[in-house]
Amino acid sequence: MKIIVVGTGFVGLPHAAVLAEYGHEVYAYDIDEKRINAYRTGKRAEIERYVNEPGLAASVAENIGNYLIFTTDISDLMDGTDIIFLCLNTPPKRDGSSDLSYYLNASHHLAELLEQRENKKRVVLVNKSTVPVGTARLLENIMNEHGVENFGVASNPEFLAQGNAIIGSRRPDRVVVGADSEEDFEILRGVYSQFVNHVRIRYLETTPETAEAIKYMANTLLLTYISFWNGVGGRLAESHSNIRMEDLKIGVTSDGRISTWGSYVSNGAGGSCFGKDIQSLIYQLNKAGRSTDLLQAVYNINEYQKTYLVDRAIYEAGFSFNQKTVALLGLAFKKRTNDMRDSAALKVVESLLARGVKSIRAYDPLAMDNAQNLWFNPEKNHLFDRISYHPSAAEAISGSDALYISTDWEEFRGLAHTIETTAKPPYMILDGRRMIPDYGALVDSGYEYLPVGGALLTPITEATEDSGGQNPADLSSK
Ligand code: UGA
Repeated sequence: MKIIVVGTGFVGLPHAAVLAEYGHEVYAYDIDEKRINAYRTGKRAEIERYVNEPGLAASVAENIGNYLIFTTDISDLMDGTDIIFLCLNTPPKRDGSSDLSYYLNASHHLAELLEQRENKKRVVLVNKSTVPVGTARLLENIMNEHGVENFGVASNPEFLAQGNAIIGSRRPDRVVVGADSEEDFEILRGVYSQFVNHVRIRYLETTPETAEAIKYMANTLLLTYISFWNGVGGRLAESHSNIRMEDLKIGVTSDGRISTWGSYVSNGAGGSCFGKDIQSLIYQLNKAGRSTDLLQAVYNINEYQKTYLVDRAIYEAGFSFNQKTVALLGLAFKKRTNDMRDSAALKVVESLLARGVKSIRAYDPLAMDNAQNLWFNPEKNHLFDRISYHPSAAEAISGSDALYISTDWEEFRGLAHTIETTAKPPYMILDGRRMIPDYGALVDSGYEYLPVGGALLTPITEATEDSGGQNPADLSSK
């Protein structure tokens, strides 16, 4: 099939590459020439500067020039095209609604080109990125306004998590296709023929509006589940020092109806999707005059979770951040990405600066360039010049009074040794990801340890021993 993929970011590029793997004639189009030129090289480093996904560069390199063509001009490609996938950015606006300006610009441009087709073969325009319910209908109206003939619109949301785009595209859990006519379903079956009668993959055909709603429901439900663990499991475990979070997780999720995914307590879920999608759904439902209490609560819990440990350090441990130096380990919103969109680290930095820290010593294995170029620009906030950037965890910790772990990078599992050799107690460890398995030994050596989803652990001092009271540190070896 002849396919055009409009937009070659995190959604569009992996989608185009995997479509090409299945022998379709795929034109990957973007208005950003630098990006397209980088992809055209077929070189891993060039491709990963824009989209860093395991297996993506290899897939692009294998198919480039054969089934996969990169272009910044699609004006000659409209004749004979079967499908156009729209994979465009829809960033959040201040009021929570989705900014559809890129999407609308691209739609009008396509409509002008499609209207001039000589070959009026059926073409289906498919929304792949997350767009508000009703956007496929909006696209239909735009095509009609321009007098485009013989077209259909569809919604085919993608459900891939970052870091899993290629494997997930080859073997998704489900494929959801929302369209209006059998003719259009048939064209989409041609694109996804490998999934249509698959024994494990659910291939669902429905209305465009249902498909759009499925995407919002799925993402907000996942965030609700994470927030339940953070906002209920976490609160329980931190208020009873004898509750063990790891056992709580196993006990609760050993029920076929309850998911293990999402039971990982953290300092809030970030990324380009959850926060944006829940705000957009709240906006859409409010606009329709419907109640959004649950969604609003989930959003608030997740946002508060991002700075909650800083507050706990002050109120539970009596720790003052004023004029202190804090090592911040992990800036990306999750491990194995350099993406900092909606990352907890951004809120942690704001909170620490507001509490008067002298300096923040930052380290992340992948996100340092993004941090320096984009977010921590001193011109945006003069306090950002209190942030310094370091090439390793050890160097970030060196000379600090406290440590905050914000991302679940694997290498942080071994931090206990680095801390012991780099920072002497008294020293406060805020663990936003429960990354230090051997925290007990640290507490025994005089460090204070405050994790998400767990009680504050303080070293045993003569005073606590004399009082005969149970110190939370007693639990650390269990
Ligand atoms: C999310 C969804 O998981 C995908 O299904 C969806 O397709 C995608 O958004 C999208 O709409 O494009 P993603 O944002 O890549 O994918 O990341 P996740 O792996 O879901 O993680 C999101 C955040 O939740 C991260 O900050 C992660 O660390 C956090 N998280 C995840 C937790 O705090 N606890 C958990 O148990 C799981």
